[in-house]
Amino acid sequence: MKAKDIRTSFVKFFEKRGHTFVPSSPVIPFDDPTLLFTNAGMNQFKDVFLGTGTRPYKRAVNYQKCIRVSGKHNDLEEVGKDTYHHTFFEMLGNWSFGDYYKKEAIEWAWELLTKEWQLPKDKLYATVFKDDDEAEELWKKVTDIAHDRILRFDEKSNFWEMGDTGPCGPCSEIHIDLGEGTCNKNHKCGVNVDGCSRFIELWNLVFIQFNRNEKGELEPLPAKHVDTGMGLERIVAVLQGKNSNYDTDLFQPLIEEISKLTGKEYIGDKNQVAMRVIADHIRMLTFAITDGAVPSNEGRGYVLRRILRRASRYARNLDMHEPFIYKLVDKVVEIMGEAYPEIEPRKEFVKNVIKTEEENFNQTLDRGIEIFENEISKLEKKGIKIFPGEIAFKLYDTYGFPIDLTNLMAQERGFEVDLKTFEELMEEQRERSREATKKIFAEGRASIAEKVEVLLRKGDVTKTEFNPDLKEYELEVNDESNRAILLSSDDEHIDQIVFSKKTIFYPESGGQVGDTGKLIYPGGEIEIIDTQRVDDLIIHFIPKIKKDSKLAREIESYVKSGGKFIAKIDVDRRKSIMKNHSATHLLHSALRKVLGTHVQQAGSLVAPDRLRFDFTHPRKLGREEIEMVEHLVNTVIFEDIELVKEYKPLKQALEEGALAFFGDKYGDIVRTVKIGDFSYELCGGTHLDRTIETGYFKIIYEGSIASGVRRVEAITGKALEKYLKEKEMEIERLSEKIDLILEEKQNLEKELSKLKLKLASDEIEKAVNSANAVKIDNFKVVAIKVSANDVDELKQFGDILRNKIGSGVGLLASVTENKINFVCVVTDDLVKEKKLDAVKIVREVTKITGGGGGGRPNMATAGGKDVAKLDEAMRNLVNVVKKLIQQ
Ligand code: ALA
Repeated sequence: MKAKDIRTSFVKFFEKRGHTFVPSSPVIPFDDPTLLFTNAGMNQFKDVFLGTGTRPYKRAVNYQKCIRVSGKHNDLEEVGKDTYHHTFFEMLGNWSFGDYYKKEAIEWAWELLTKEWQLPKDKLYATVFKDDDEAEELWKKVTDIAHDRILRFDEKSNFWEMGDTGPCGPCSEIHIDLGEGTCNKNHKCGVNVDGCSRFIELWNLVFIQFNRNEKGELEPLPAKHVDTGMGLERIVAVLQGKNSNYDTDLFQPLIEEISKLTGKEYIGDKNQVAMRVIADHIRMLTFAITDGAVPSNEGRGYVLRRILRRASRYARNLDMHEPFIYKLVDKVVEIMGEAYPEIEPRKEFVKNVIKTEEENFNQTLDRGIEIFENEISKLEKKGIKIFPGEIAFKLYDTYGFPIDLTNLMAQERGFEVDLKTFEELMEEQRERSREATKKIFAEGRASIAEKVEVLLRKGDVTKTEFNPDLKEYELEVNDESNRAILLSSDDEHIDQIVFSKKTIFYPESGGQVGDTGKLIYPGGEIEIIDTQRVDDLIIHFIPKIKKDSKLAREIESYVKSGGKFIAKIDVDRRKSIMKNHSATHLLHSALRKVLGTHVQQAGSLVAPDRLRFDFTHPRKLGREEIEMVEHLVNTVIFEDIELVKEYKPLKQALEEGALAFFGDKYGDIVRTVKIGDFSYELCGGTHLDRTIETGYFKIIYEGSIASGVRRVEAITGKALEKYLKEKEMEIERLSEKIDLILEEKQNLEKELSKLKLKLASDEIEKAVNSANAVKIDNFKVVAIKVSANDVDELKQFGDILRNKIGSGVGLLASVTENKINFVCVVTDDLVKEKKLDAVKIVREVTKITGGGGGGRPNMATAGGKDVAKLDEAMRNLVNVVKKLIQQ
């Protein structure tokens, strides 16, 4: 059976038993801060287990993309060294949400393995949790497994937990004995023996009944559930009769591609481990990047960076020094694209990200390896087995070697890294950067945080409220319910004001800049130059006032005496900001519609004069794409759609498809902003009521800010007036310039045609006086080839010829683009006396070149098609003229 058939057969088996197929959730969990990566099929059902969410079905089945490189479930160390652990793998699973329980779970698992898939019963083992008599009894009752193959284990093997917190419960696992010779460890092989590759776990049936809370305690759940998981890669290997997951059709094409690209064979430990690591890691990277992660220096991004660097380092074992890992993305897509259609549309982006990252690291990798090797040989000479923490730190700090990479390299050479020193140096570095930050803050707003803490503790203020939905631009403050409090960030000045209860000034967040305005009191005005949120307080910044100044004393006593201020927002500015904020949502949506849903917000700035939006996209936007985006946004603006702002549970908003900005923290209840069917986002910013208020939207800049991240800047409303004025002036300047150029061009053309006429006239004169001009009676007959741009010019040449010839007949021919133009001139004396007619002559002469003509007796024109006959036609002129005068 092919891997894809095994996936389908699993799903079908459970669909037949009343399960609903639910597609895999992304490997980047969307709203679960307890997880860096999705680590099990049950993750997306966590809320159902906890009783906080529901689904319209009670039984589910799926295949889920999982990553296990951090936290409770971390297989990274093993990956590549053995043949059955992975950073990325697929988990086949079936679930019961408060529906069936242990009996069916055990019965169906056995049936699928031994009947449907025909695995030999005498190779299978079942394990149960040490106190789970019920499970053991069920194994005996509902399956025909040999009773001595049911083994009991403790928490370590048979109590499954999702993470440090979350749903958990006892489990029952099915293991398979792959037979003698499949494990080379120096131990007695057996079920759950550490590192044994002969007895391996196939399927885990978890009986979820607890939640591990933050205190580490087990809380019983409102209902009991089943959560099972079977690693696809392993079952595929077993069913395809392979000892290694890497020998199955899930990996073979990848291994072959690596062979091709590196020119190395998949033989020998060194090559095999390296190729397995690379094959494994590229799958992980492809899926993680597709689902929205990018390599960076912290959190999830740093895990990606570490994984790719680990792969790059193993590529050195295959003598690869240039980036090539990114090329494998195509193979991953080839193998997995059908089961996971989301990877194909993003593959160019993924390749781009990986390539850039490889390039960057490759530049320092060789140098780092050299430093590492030097150190190792020094240590070897001295007989020391501890790798210095200082060097590990240097490799980390200067050469970007993640510590686990240095660790791995050291282990390979039989060394151990002095992690204690390494950690101390890391801590020192963190301290240095904290100090630096503090210093910066000390000069400005740093101590605000401390002051705020004191105020909050003393109960002088509570949380300052701000309501983005109120269109209030003026507020009376410093009464009993909303006192004004002056603050200072140093001992000498007053530079901030907070209100104890509420404000109408928007504090900078979500990209939207803080409001400005003023506080008016009978004695004057205090300018508010910025508004920021610090913890629960909203702080209004004012220009520094020296504490010992008269003004400071005046304000202080006014505040103390309970004097009222009118707080006024700079309304024009705020309205421009609102236009830009609503337009940012429209832009975000339009970009996703025009470029694809891989577009994800990477940052934004909503200012009064413009908006800036950063997003993931691998390529420069073409002119047409920009125009389409603008057009879409403006269409929605002119459709005059209402912006609906609502508060609802985060879960509900996400399920309804609201976009959230990755990396933003959201509470349980969120505010959403919906613009018809066009845009739906989580957002706490201030927005327009209707799209038409935006006025108009125009993109004024498009560029790149990092690999795979583009930036667009745009303007709306009033800013457009200025923009248009500028453009108008630019057009005026340009058209003046063009006028000048045109005039110059005309002058030059005149000059040129004069020169040409002069040249032609010289040539014609020469021809008229040369031997080619035949004399008949007293007049001359001459045919001349010239080069003229068009018939008009040729006619001008004709006039010259008539003047020069005195008395005679002249024929001029010029060839342009395979067509001939003729002009025939006859001087007036001959028209009169010899009744010669230019029209007749030209028609006769040009008969053989195939064309017609016309004109007056003294000048006629004709066309001709057959350029090859031109010379003959010209030679024929004399005969034609002779014939005509004889008539
Ligand atoms: N959630 C269980 C596991 O991951 C099935 O093993």
